[in-house]
Amino acid sequence: MTMKKELIDKLAQAGNLTDEELKSLLESGDEDEDYLFQKADARRQSIYGKEVYLRGLIEFTNYCKNNCYYCGIRCGNTKLERYRLTKDDILACCQEGYRLGYRTFVLQGGEDPFFTDEMICDIVSAIHGSYPDCAITLSIGEKEKSSYQAYFEAGARRYLLRHETANEAHYRKLHPDVMSPTHRQQCLFDLKAIGYQVGTGLMVGSPFQTTENIVEDIRFMQKLDPDMIGIGPFLTHLDTPFSKYENGSLKLTLRLIAIFRLMFPYALIPSTTALGTIHPAGREMGLKAGANVVMPNLSPTDFRKLYSLYDNKICTGDEAAECRGCLERRVKGAGYEIVNAVGDCAKLRLDGNTYPDETKMS
Ligand code: 5AD
Ligand code: FES
Repeated sequence: MTMKKELIDKLAQAGNLTDEELKSLLESGDEDEDYLFQKADARRQSIYGKEVYLRGLIEFTNYCKNNCYYCGIRCGNTKLERYRLTKDDILACCQEGYRLGYRTFVLQGGEDPFFTDEMICDIVSAIHGSYPDCAITLSIGEKEKSSYQAYFEAGARRYLLRHETANEAHYRKLHPDVMSPTHRQQCLFDLKAIGYQVGTGLMVGSPFQTTENIVEDIRFMQKLDPDMIGIGPFLTHLDTPFSKYENGSLKLTLRLIAIFRLMFPYALIPSTTALGTIHPAGREMGLKAGANVVMPNLSPTDFRKLYSLYDNKICTGDEAAECRGCLERRVKGAGYEIVNAVGDCAKLRLDGNTYPDETKMS
């Protein structure tokens, strides 16, 4: 038995490793990756079987007041044409999504002050009123706790906010001074305290990232204990200050997905669009490494190109009219099955704390 296999066994059994051991596992390229992915897939199957949950992604605004150096929709990118969907546009996306079988909608956007808390609450409660059997997820950045509370009362139950990097110095290299890692992390704890199912995560291979940084990310996530974990490779966007930095590594992203599955066995882990962008079969590989969620794009096709977080993003061209069918084929091809359900975190199910209206599911 190789040293790496021993580490993988230890991780699978104990759900944890020392910093040194994690570092060694992260830095071993593709050594024993089949063994790692098999262990992760077995763990995922022991909890979720072959089920893959769908999240219908609605990218409703590409305006953003922030200026993160890696991101294509940063306010400093003057080349980008900006758009906002109206409430009616968003409701139309949900209607189409519901018809296609989606039972979770993710409203994602830049930090756009045009959408006041009142407007967000109005949109959330309209969706909640029309589709009480669906879960509503928000992904609209850092807000006051009182705002998060208001969205929750309007019917939102899940929130995605990647911490991006847990290391202060690294965070400062990726963001302008006005943004702070402590504030972002506080937001995550606020969301948890309110009762949201919380998702966090990071980009793999963002500029200046070290293996030690990733170990810190893992430690932060162990403190937060997220219900959802979103990771994908960093991908270059030419109209950003990081235009000269190379894409992150597909292999390392897959390794990290598998490590997360073994450390957070109950987590909902999407096989992300960034994975599908870096490799044509990236999302299938993500599923086989332990991911159990896919997030087809439900945004109107005319706008999809404009939500350009990074270059060459998939699902923005002619092929994208029907991501649902495409992903269904891909998921089946990888040996899994798409489930039309709210798809709660299994740990919450164990606690008897499921999404309140799941019983009404069709
Ligand atoms: N490459 C990969 N992921 C990116 N994101 C933003 N810009 C990039 C990029 N250039 C990710 C961030 C953000 C999520 C919505 O998209 O992690 O939280
Ligand atoms: Fe969007 Fe394949 S998932 S085109």
